[in-house]
Amino acid sequence: MANKTFKRHTITSALPYANGPIHIGHLAGVYIPADIYVRYLRSKKEDVIFVCGSDEHGVPITIRAKKEGKTPQEIANIYNGLIKKSFQEFGISFDIYSRTSNETHYKTASDFFVTLNNKKAFREIESEQYYDEEQNEFLADRYISGTCPKCGHLDAYGDQCENCGSTLSPAELINPKSMLSGSKPILKTTKHWYLPLDEYESWLRQWILNDHKEWKPNVYGQCKSWIDQGLQPRAVTRDLNWGVPVPLAGAEGKVLYVWFDAPIGYISATKDWAKQNNKDWEPYWKDKDTRLLHFIGKDNIVFHCIIFPSMLKEHGEFILPENIPANEFLNLEGNKISTSRNWAVWLHEFQEDFKGKEDVLRYTLCANAPETKDNDFTWKDFQAKNNNELVAILGNFVNRVMVLLHKYYGGIVPAKGVLFDIDEEIIQSIGNMPGTIENSLNAFRFREAMANYMELARNGNKYLAESEPWKVIKTNPDRVATIMNIATQIVANLAILGEPFLPFTSTKIFDMLGIQKLLWESAGTVNIIKEGNIVQQPELLFTKIEDEEIENQILKLKNTLIENSKMIDEAPVVAPMKEIISYDDFTKMDLRIGKILEAEKLEKSNKLLKLLVDTGLDIRTIVSGVAKHFKPEEVIGKQVTVLVNLAPRKIMGIESNGMILLAEDHEGKLVFVTPDQIVNNGSGIS
Ligand code: MF3
Ligand code: ZN
Repeated sequence: MANKTFKRHTITSALPYANGPIHIGHLAGVYIPADIYVRYLRSKKEDVIFVCGSDEHGVPITIRAKKEGKTPQEIANIYNGLIKKSFQEFGISFDIYSRTSNETHYKTASDFFVTLNNKKAFREIESEQYYDEEQNEFLADRYISGTCPKCGHLDAYGDQCENCGSTLSPAELINPKSMLSGSKPILKTTKHWYLPLDEYESWLRQWILNDHKEWKPNVYGQCKSWIDQGLQPRAVTRDLNWGVPVPLAGAEGKVLYVWFDAPIGYISATKDWAKQNNKDWEPYWKDKDTRLLHFIGKDNIVFHCIIFPSMLKEHGEFILPENIPANEFLNLEGNKISTSRNWAVWLHEFQEDFKGKEDVLRYTLCANAPETKDNDFTWKDFQAKNNNELVAILGNFVNRVMVLLHKYYGGIVPAKGVLFDIDEEIIQSIGNMPGTIENSLNAFRFREAMANYMELARNGNKYLAESEPWKVIKTNPDRVATIMNIATQIVANLAILGEPFLPFTSTKIFDMLGIQKLLWESAGTVNIIKEGNIVQQPELLFTKIEDEEIENQILKLKNTLIENSKMIDEAPVVAPMKEIISYDDFTKMDLRIGKILEAEKLEKSNKLLKLLVDTGLDIRTIVSGVAKHFKPEEVIGKQVTVLVNLAPRKIMGIESNGMILLAEDHEGKLVFVTPDQIVNNGSGIS
């Protein structure tokens, strides 16, 4: 159904979690492509709404809130404000930026759940989950820590070990501990509502794999592999006290799972928009002639292609998405962007350092958009794209035209005369340009669309270079009038066709031309600007970015690396756990408290001390490797722990009878394991 024409478009972009600021990866993957597409549709006079908002539920927000001593709502308020501002500053032109904590959303999400429940769409399943008896709370996976069963890391989470990267379930953790109280959680039965995805499998196979072969290969491929692996029922409720309460009697203390309520947020946001603008929201979600598109990053594919459509289908009143042009990830200087390691370019920080260069970032991120594979952002490339493309090609062309118009015609656009071949050629290429760009945009190939757009500026420069008005002016002023008229028309085309990509620049060009903003239908001709139109003084669209500014940014990232490596050094490096032994194995060791009576250095070794130890059983010689850490006189009189039944070993010619226990930290420092009070020598340890 890719060729159907639609009456209107509902465009959504993923609702960012309101638990941290947003970075260039978000912009490149989701919001810039969505914004380009929406601006293009608006310019085509299509009926379109572009919705977004904060995703304010989920466990990470509650964790952040606890850490900072705030409520989840306070955290969400802070980041909702910050994110909304960043989007505005970068020209992301949402019709509404709503929030999943508002009233409309609570009602919409509850009603949605109730509708599915009334249709018996859910399966109610009981399972055992960890419960903190001190806090009287079920524990989300993220709230349980314990030893990783795969690598022995002591602080693995219930869903994942950050040391070895394994995905875990809480039941796999060794020695699970509640992160709320530190207590040992118990297993307790709980009931949840499941969406039986297994039942939708054949429908999904048909709808996606058969009817939507036109979806991007990365999206289609991920869907296929999910479906081929077999779909499992998914719980859509959680035992948690932050979220939309499950609207059923007997479900106290339970909320909707964040991934159930968040996509419904698109509908709630549309309702909010409709209310504010005196419009009807329903056609945007219910009319078959509406085209629903979701712009997202690749980590959201399963939720938007499989789970949310299953919910919409089961509900029965809603249309399904036509397409889900998900992108891959953007890396930063060769490394994965990471919030926890602060490896990111944060939008609010970019804004401070490069005020007025929002379009430059839009341009660089679109040029490097991770459309088909992960891609990389580097500061050097950012500088190069600005200096070599925006300044040298686009900015330079527009500036030359404006300067020459003022120089030769006092800023008044002259009339065209007879057309030469070179004019006919450029007129033809201008005529093709809107269609060429549209083809790329309609296929969600935004990089290609923008590259085509830049071709127009390149052609403009070429046209000036070849027609040489600065030479011809001396011999044939009429000819120059034609050239400058056409050049001005190219500038106007650049303003119209560039608006989706570079909205701030486009506005500046319209202003310089002294005309109102024009729409897509006006592009493609050389009759946009009337003769006699008065243009404004030239203003530079882009300015060069110096090496120093780029070096500062690179330095900032280097400092992040240094900070991170310090953190790793400070974190205790813990050896992996040895294999499990039986209690019998343990009791084979005869451990006792003994007292060091005498100590002397071994002449031939700088590591070893020869010790005489009272074990309570006997007085014996033990050779111990502590000479680097203790002088003989420091250890005499100390009570220590001795393994007394270790087979005797000869060390540097001396028979050593037993072993003294020492603790060694990760820097190699040794200390004795001593009783915390004096006890009789020979006291057993068990
Ligand atoms: N908050 C999610 C994320 O950042 C995206 C939610 S998209 C929605 O990954 F559809 F659920 F709203
Ligand atoms: Zn691990």
